[in-house]
Amino acid sequence: MLILALILMLGIGMCGRAKRDALIVSPSMFATAAAPAGATKPDFDKEIKPIFQSRCMPCHFQDGKVYDKLPFDKPETITKLGTKLFTRIKDEKEQRLIREFLAQP
Ligand code: HEC
Repeated sequence: MLILALILMLGIGMCGRAKRDALIVSPSMFATAAAPAGATKPDFDKEIKPIFQSRCMPCHFQDGKVYDKLPFDKPETITKLGTKLFTRIKDEKEQRLIREFLAQP
């Protein structure tokens, strides 16, 4: 069901873009359609967690020294810390994903 919904959303996203981009050729249509700005909430496990896994291991993950206090494999920690995380996550794309995640209920 989730997969179906995703495909449907992607489809709608691309159609919308295709109309808007009819006059301008967009080389990155697929890439932008996969992460439309502010349209769908980024998936924690697929999009948010990997950011932290790639940068904040091992301390904030299982068996790390601050895992008990600030476990980054739990969405609540990210929601709680919010933009405080940006003192350590500087990449613009990653910040945008996290912002989108925080902005949506
Ligand atoms: C080498 C281990 C280590 C790594 C790697 C690490 N942290 Fe931490 N982090 C800590 C420790 C230790 C604390 C202090 C916890 C406390 O308050 O007792 C902490 C606290 C924090 C805090 C709360 C305190 C504050 O500064 O407001 C945030 C937010 C945080 N880390 C984010 C991150 C992020 C984001 C990353 C990855 C980009 C990261 N940390 C990677 C060890 C680490």
